[in-house]
Amino acid sequence: MSSSAELQKTIEDMIDAERGILAADESTGTMTKRLAAVGVDSTEENRRWYRTMLLSTPDVGKYISGVIFYEETLGQKDDNGTPLAELAASQGIVPGIKVDKGKGELPGAPGDMITYGLDGLAERLDGYKAQGARFAKWREVYPITDHNPTALGLTANAEMLARYAAVCQAAGIVPIVEPEVLIDGNHSMERAAEVNEQVWHAVFHALHQHGVVLEHMILKPSMVTPGKDRGPAAPEEVAEMTLRILRRTVPAAVPSINFLSGGQTPEQATANLNALNQLRDRAPWQLSMSYGRALQEHAMQAWGGDPANREKAQQAFFKRARLNSLARQGQYQAQQEQAA
Ligand code: 13P
Repeated sequence: MSSSAELQKTIEDMIDAERGILAADESTGTMTKRLAAVGVDSTEENRRWYRTMLLSTPDVGKYISGVIFYEETLGQKDDNGTPLAELAASQGIVPGIKVDKGKGELPGAPGDMITYGLDGLAERLDGYKAQGARFAKWREVYPITDHNPTALGLTANAEMLARYAAVCQAAGIVPIVEPEVLIDGNHSMERAAEVNEQVWHAVFHALHQHGVVLEHMILKPSMVTPGKDRGPAAPEEVAEMTLRILRRTVPAAVPSINFLSGGQTPEQATANLNALNQLRDRAPWQLSMSYGRALQEHAMQAWGGDPANREKAQQAFFKRARLNSLARQGQYQAQQEQAA
């Protein structure tokens, strides 16, 4: 298959009108924090058991079209010796891999961050592909302050995302381009809109300069919301503002926008996705999710480290996946939270 046909096939397998992506690519450091919050030790076996449990949830492929793994998981197997990438594929879920190597400060731009991992990326992608990965994810992080992101921060982060995306496409791997504007802080919704507009504009400018084929990528942005310290805005307001800014900055050639949940509660993330899809007549792209915490939080709590809770945890995960699938179609109602 030509590289272009391969990318197109992956896009078609990952994008439809009902499903979204599970982000299960927490680095070991982040996973250790998440597990500590539910009183579980972050051993390699616990991480393997938990991620196996999620992926073997019966029929969850009805709602989930792709899963993002961390490098460790791509090398792991379920109790029957099946690699987890194969287990995902057997449910109709396309396996992918987070390929950035975390973030640090951006020298010359106090308060801004930059992500590492471009060196040797092409070779790493060949290895991941051999292990079953068909798409990748790279995250740049933008804190909002009165002075951030700076002009340098906007350009430098966009450049990283574009270079990563170009390397992926050359390897026949679909890139998920994730510019995460952080929810932390006390900023207004208007300030978040202003920052997201600058970020998305810079990112698509860089993608164009690097010759990234927009039809063969997925955008994973934040929703436009007020800073966390201000409390959440109404879903209708989030949807209205998010769509307004996306329409100004994201070309219609991009097939799908899969939002991150970024610290919203699971219920908020579902309600916001639903409100976005109620306005989808104004969107030339699919509007879906690539949630980590919002899909996993309840399942992780239900598990609590006890294998006897396997079924309960799977039910909690299945419920979130199903409700987000309804939201993805604009058919979610808050009362549906009450049913199992
Ligand atoms: P959250 O939905 O928990 O923000 O995770 C998505 C993700 O992949 C962040 O990089």
